[in-house]
Amino acid sequence: MTTRRKCSHILSNGERNMVPLNRTGSVRKPNSWSGPTPGEEAILSGCKKDAHLLHVVSLGDLFYSKLEVKDTNGPIFSYSMGNVVALHVSHPDLVKDITLCGSLALGKATYLKKTHEPLFGQGILKSNGEAWAYQRKIIAPEFFLEKVKGMVDLMVDCTFPLLNSWESKIERGKGIADIKVDEDLRSYSADVISRACFGSSYIKGKEIFLKLRVLQKAICKPNMFVEITGVRHIPTKRNREMWRLNKEIRSLILQVVKEGKGGDKNLLQAILRSASNGRIGPNTTDSFVVDNCKTIYFAGHETTAVTATWCLMLLGLHPEWQARARAEVAEVCDGRPTDARSLQKMKILTMVIQEALRLYPPGAYVTRETLQEMEFGGIHIPKGVNVYVPVSILHHDPNIWGPDVHEFNPERFASGVHGACQHPHMYVPFGAGTRTCLGQNFAMVELKIILSLVLSKFSFTLSPSYQHSPTLRLIVEPEFGVSLIMEKV
Ligand code: HEM
Repeated sequence: MTTRRKCSHILSNGERNMVPLNRTGSVRKPNSWSGPTPGEEAILSGCKKDAHLLHVVSLGDLFYSKLEVKDTNGPIFSYSMGNVVALHVSHPDLVKDITLCGSLALGKATYLKKTHEPLFGQGILKSNGEAWAYQRKIIAPEFFLEKVKGMVDLMVDCTFPLLNSWESKIERGKGIADIKVDEDLRSYSADVISRACFGSSYIKGKEIFLKLRVLQKAICKPNMFVEITGVRHIPTKRNREMWRLNKEIRSLILQVVKEGKGGDKNLLQAILRSASNGRIGPNTTDSFVVDNCKTIYFAGHETTAVTATWCLMLLGLHPEWQARARAEVAEVCDGRPTDARSLQKMKILTMVIQEALRLYPPGAYVTRETLQEMEFGGIHIPKGVNVYVPVSILHHDPNIWGPDVHEFNPERFASGVHGACQHPHMYVPFGAGTRTCLGQNFAMVELKIILSLVLSKFSFTLSPSYQHSPTLRLIVEPEFGVSLIMEKV
């Protein structure tokens, strides 16, 4: 590999020490750490917008096009904060090696695992090794395409409250209304997950979702003390609030579980069956169920709702694509109710969603940790290094996507991901390899349903009140929401 590889460490004076990786050939772990240096503090205090200090370098790059930062650091570099060592990888060869690595020794980062514990516990998203493999075996089949096809009617039913509410707003506004779409899309997505996976309605799950959202926002607030010291058990006001929320969510989920026992065949039943088959200790059975339910509630609804929001924002901004997508929906459905077969024929809508996921991937990073010493592309990586693949940087690289990389151009996906870019493995909105998102079929079907029905009923433009500010709150979302000026078609 001829590409320049550099390893940068933040020095005590705040300057970056660039060490070519091909000279050292390895990522170094710091021996000890004695508090943030003035240089580090300066960087951290400038990071109010972002959740985690580890994201400082690359988030600037992500949204504010500080290309000089990227050029300085190169496609592979490492840096350390406290006792956390991060390896940042955006070089195609290495991204391929890392994302396709099937070894259980490359797991999810333990640093983020602790930070995100209140939201995900020891559930599938954050667990490693045998525990992860067992959970994946139980949960993944519930989201296979054939199973998801059977959920189409249920998903269509879930759109009615949103469509009716927008219609009423337009009628009240005498044919036109300025509608903030985020929360309605979140409710739709939450309803879909509640009904499809847990056999309960959004009304029942509503309290869980609202509390998860508060917890999400609390987790995203930067907490330098905790990140740097790792001390999480001091009863500060914020910690007490998080513990309280967590306890309430746990008891609400256990209530849903109690009511759902013996119900329809769904994800909840699969989790309950596997929790009672003796492979999990009796003390951890409730936690196993609660952690996985929390994970699916969160991972399954926030990401999809935010993607739908970005799609509508982009379609509001690009009337030509809105018209093309609407015409396709009309042709494919031809007055018939939406079903699995018609969804499969919606090529333009698929391209629009793929392009929205390229420009605004909800998961800003694919993260891994080396659970033992490993080597990728000739780079020796010690145990315990956090490996970050910056999804937005890969998705905005002109060498991969061409000179119109920053444009909304769904046409690039006309022949699929392979036709859209030079290195298809650099398109990773759903992650990659063994840990790839298991809900992607579910998400694509859900997105096509809501978007096709919105397009068939409404035409819309972006409201002048819209403020563009993608922000990272665990996932990348529009900081001030998205408002659209809507009319009936
Ligand atoms: C547009 C919507 C979605 C996006 C962009 C998305 C994105 C992602 C990403 C980036 C990952 C990490 C993959 C990796 O580390 O390689 C992930 C993992 C995961 N997602 Fe999704 N996701 C979406 C929807 C869903 C839905 C609807 C569900 C469930 C109903 C879901 C469940 C999960 C689970 C359980 C994992 C963990 C998989 C594992 O670690 O084995 N996601 N998702």
